[in-house]
Amino acid sequence: MSEPILKVRNLSKTYMQGKIPVNALTDVSFDVEKGEFLSIVGPSGSGKSTLLSMIGLLDKPTGGSVLIDGIEITRASESEAPRIRREKIGFVFQHFNLIPTLTALENVDIAMRFARVPKGRRRERAIELLEQMGLRERMNHKPSELSGGEQQRVSIARAMANHPAIILADEPTGEVDTKTRDMIVGILKSLCEKGQTILVVTHDTAVAARTSRIITMRDGRIASDKPTKVEQGIAADKIQ
Ligand SMILES: Nc1ncnc2c1ncn2[C@@H]1O[C@H](COP(=O)(O)OP(=O)(O)OP(=O)(O)O)[C@@H](O)[C@H]1O
Ligand SMILES: [Mg+2]
Repeated sequence: MSEPILKVRNLSKTYMQGKIPVNALTDVSFDVEKGEFLSIVGPSGSGKSTLLSMIGLLDKPTGGSVLIDGIEITRASESEAPRIRREKIGFVFQHFNLIPTLTALENVDIAMRFARVPKGRRRERAIELLEQMGLRERMNHKPSELSGGEQQRVSIARAMANHPAIILADEPTGEVDTKTRDMIVGILKSLCEKGQTILVVTHDTAVAARTSRIITMRDGRIASDKPTKVEQGIAADKIQ
């Protein structure tokens, strides 16, 4: 098997709430292979978002390391972090976080502008991604003129723009109805089938059930790490 695309080793994070330390993560270790569709579940406050923010270079851990594509991102300096984040990570948020004054096309384009992709190539890639998301007719609309599901598809296109090693999605279906949720999960699943690696934090068991592996967090630790039943079934079929 090839080298895991993500390696998390003995990761810990302690926040100070005034003078009181809060152990948001304690000794978290796991590997993720390229193309895995992984969900992270667990009660509120169990450390899911903290884990994503360490992997996404949004914050520094107290201890341990994260390697993405063989690069130890936890050692990156303040000046290196934005570039690594741009090149390696795509973010999808619960509230979409699109720029309201820009069209769908411009929202995808701007992610590549920061990565200094030439204008022509940016436009080509943005159109290709938005078409892939079924938004061909919606490209010139602003977020306020799009439904929640459409906005989330724009943000998935934006997350894909710079060919990230990993997409990190924190409650990507938290704001949409069940039909839209199923469509968004279907899109994420199809991206994984083409080799994209995706980590999704969710409270929704229906979302977790459609991923290939579920990590359950409890009190900042991994309580369980299992392939989903469907995948186990497939694995069992393959063995027979
Ligand atoms: N910036 C911070 N400063 C202090 N404590 C924090 C900070 N961020 C998170 N925490 C604490 O760390 C713990 C883990 O929080 P985290 O946001 O990772 O949980 P979560 O699993 O994402 O919860 P939810 O499901 O509610 O989003 C909680 O006890 C929280 O209060
Ligand atoms: Mg959270």
